[in-house]
Amino acid sequence: MKVTIIGSGYVGLVTAVCFADLGHEVICIEKDDNKLNKLKNGIVPIYEPGLDDLLDKNRKENRIKFSNSIEEGVNFSNIIYLCVGTPQGEDGKADLSQVEEASRQIALYMKDYKLIVEKSTVPVNTHQWVKKTIKRYIKNKEIEFDVASNPEFLREGSALYDFMNPDRIVIGVESKKAENLLKELYKYFIDKNYKFLITTPAAAELIKHASNSFLAMKISYINMIAELCEKVGADINEVADGIGSDKRIGRAFLNAGIGYGGSCFPKDVKAFIKIAEEHGIDFGLLKETEKINKQRRLKFIEKIEEVLWISKDKNIAIWGLAFKPNTDDIREAPSIDVVKELYRLKANLFLYDPKAMENFKLLFPEKDNIHYKDDPYSAVEEADALLILTEWDEFININLEKIKAKMRLPIIIDGRNIYDKKKLLELGFEYYCIGR
Ligand code: UDX
Repeated sequence: MKVTIIGSGYVGLVTAVCFADLGHEVICIEKDDNKLNKLKNGIVPIYEPGLDDLLDKNRKENRIKFSNSIEEGVNFSNIIYLCVGTPQGEDGKADLSQVEEASRQIALYMKDYKLIVEKSTVPVNTHQWVKKTIKRYIKNKEIEFDVASNPEFLREGSALYDFMNPDRIVIGVESKKAENLLKELYKYFIDKNYKFLITTPAAAELIKHASNSFLAMKISYINMIAELCEKVGADINEVADGIGSDKRIGRAFLNAGIGYGGSCFPKDVKAFIKIAEEHGIDFGLLKETEKINKQRRLKFIEKIEEVLWISKDKNIAIWGLAFKPNTDDIREAPSIDVVKELYRLKANLFLYDPKAMENFKLLFPEKDNIHYKDDPYSAVEEADALLILTEWDEFININLEKIKAKMRLPIIIDGRNIYDKKKLLELGFEYYCIGR
């Protein structure tokens, strides 16, 4: 089948390349010229493991192409995916201006039936607005169209795997025609008996926000328990293993630490709270989820002061700037709050991240007491403390004796519980972590 993807960010590009790899013919519309030029030359503007190779393969087999013309995209196929950004607005509501703009532009070029599919994360009932917008701007009012919802459940860093191995594919449709088109598009998965849930657009939009908010709540729950573990001397990882062994709970997303970041959880929790408020419902549980998550960063910064007493003029190494491993994305990353505070306290900061340093430099340029290092070892030269904010494998497998020899003081404050406390103490480190 032919598919048009509007927006080539973390969601749009992965969706486009994976649909192409399934044998569909895809056009991906990107309005940012810099990004578009890179994509046309096979360069992936984001870091997502495996995406560059898969793009290359499908470009070579002519199954994917790129353009900045929505008109070309609308004429290319009768399935048009909205994968544009829905960032957080000032008041916590999702900013849907890109969804509105794309809907308006699609309407202007429609000459025959189109199925417009929301893949971007949008508040429930956005599909009503997309429909209304298309009705308003379409030139020929006789033309039929459908709007559907097909939310994504992709984790950055494992997006290709998540697309090709979905726990479930959810489609929210209002007509048999829309349902049949999407069933054909997802035939590969249906034939392999992946769970294919057909519901209404409103339910599909809600499923996305409800899933992400639940995962965020699960993280804040274990972080709340970690607080108590620290007070009573229990090990949070052992507690998490204990509760996570219950199949109804599950061990995943019970890793205590400095809390969640990224472009999804913080934004989706806020937007969901707002949506409920607009319908006169108080999502207090999610407000607490948010509050606990904010406190994690503050408590981590307090822990630094408890350990170091004074941060001013101390050499502090920071490993991990990305909001999680295997991505270059720093949106809402804990590192932003930690670096901001330590910079304010006039510590000498030595930062390292395998992939996210270029993005981080846009926020914190190299200057006076902010230094970027090319590897984890040089970051800890003469350091008075090492902070770990992202659990990259590179840090987990590091040569700790070598680290200790390079540091001025063997102090590690681990925000992601990546090391075995007993082993670190035996190696002579002062080791501080979360909930243990
Ligand atoms: C999330 C959802 O997992 C995905 O299904 C959705 O489509 C998009 O949002 P993502 O934000 O890419 O994906 O990352 P995820 O792996 O979910 O981690 C989110 C945050 O939670 C990260 O900051 C991570 O460090 C944190 N986290 C995750 C924890 O603190 N503890 C955990 O146990 C798991």
